[in-house]
Amino acid sequence: MSLMRNMLLWGSQQAWLRDSAMRRPFVRRSVSRFMPGERLEDALGAAQALQAQGIGTILTHLGENLTDPAEADEVTRHYLEALEAIHAAGLDAQISVKLTQLGLDFDAERCQANLLSLLQRADPIGNFVWIDMESSAYVERTLEQYRIARRRSSRVGVCLQTYLRRTAADLESLLPLGPAIRLVKGAYKEPREIAFPRKADVDESFFALAQRFLTADLQAPGALLAVGTHDSRLIGRITGTLAHRPAAAQVEFEMLYGIQPRLQQELVRTGRRLRVLISYGEWWFPWYMRRLAERPANVLFVMRNLFAG
Ligand code: FDA
Repeated sequence: MSLMRNMLLWGSQQAWLRDSAMRRPFVRRSVSRFMPGERLEDALGAAQALQAQGIGTILTHLGENLTDPAEADEVTRHYLEALEAIHAAGLDAQISVKLTQLGLDFDAERCQANLLSLLQRADPIGNFVWIDMESSAYVERTLEQYRIARRRSSRVGVCLQTYLRRTAADLESLLPLGPAIRLVKGAYKEPREIAFPRKADVDESFFALAQRFLTADLQAPGALLAVGTHDSRLIGRITGTLAHRPAAAQVEFEMLYGIQPRLQQELVRTGRRLRVLISYGEWWFPWYMRRLAERPANVLFVMRNLFAG
């Protein structure tokens, strides 16, 4: 893991840095590259514009590791409103939640109740709820919550990180459920005993896990593989195998707002299903630092904004 990536991921957890950075205009200007704004309306506007280009979306309200039950309930209410607003606007937009936003850190039952209330609303209006994957300390609890939710509804999916050594076994254990899985490389700072330290191994693990999904016999409604990456080489390798797979119709591609827009358009042009994840909200600092860590060249972009006045 590069020194720069390590420093950025360390910085993502520092409250003093967060408080100072969030006030700086040049940081705020840099963030706007990755998010259309802080309000739900900003995200809905961006979703509308992407829909006009044939791109579906997923909305996520930034925030994590909440410690106050009232706040977790408030986030849940916010997502219920978001589901209503999406429905009213006729948008092809789903939602994605972090379980530590719904109370996982202090009350697993409350978290489950919050998650199920989102599913209860998403189900009748034909929407879909994604569960993000946070750092490795949360994987077991997140999958436990997913299994319960998946038994209640087919309109729920979970993210798996290909940098984790455990993920092949996790995928195997989920396949009998006919799951919706979003594969991503993984964005947190993890020790080498837990996560592959070499990028080549993370990429290879991604390809192998995608192939495993595609060769499984998945008849259950809702079974889906979301390929969540901006890595054109990996996307090319995976699309290269799709022609021979009956499960090809159960594949979609997912990327983050503002990253690789040309690749996004190329996928749509070649008839692939694509969703773009749009983040919004005031609590953007740790999430933004993870985006910088993914591509340290982004730090140069921040510096340019510093001097842009
Ligand atoms: P890689 O890092 O190899 O990048 C491939 C290329 O994409 C780079 O060469 C660069 O050109 C471009 N690129 C990638 N990141 C960029 C950036 N930040 N800025 C500019 N260019 C960039 N992680 C997690 O741990 N839990 C989660 O729940 C999710 N959820 C999630 C949803 C979706 C839809 C996506 C696309 C990603 C996530 N992630 C995530 C993040 C994921 O783990 C990973 O950190 C990023 O997707 C970056 O990795 P890539 O697969 O794009 O490959």
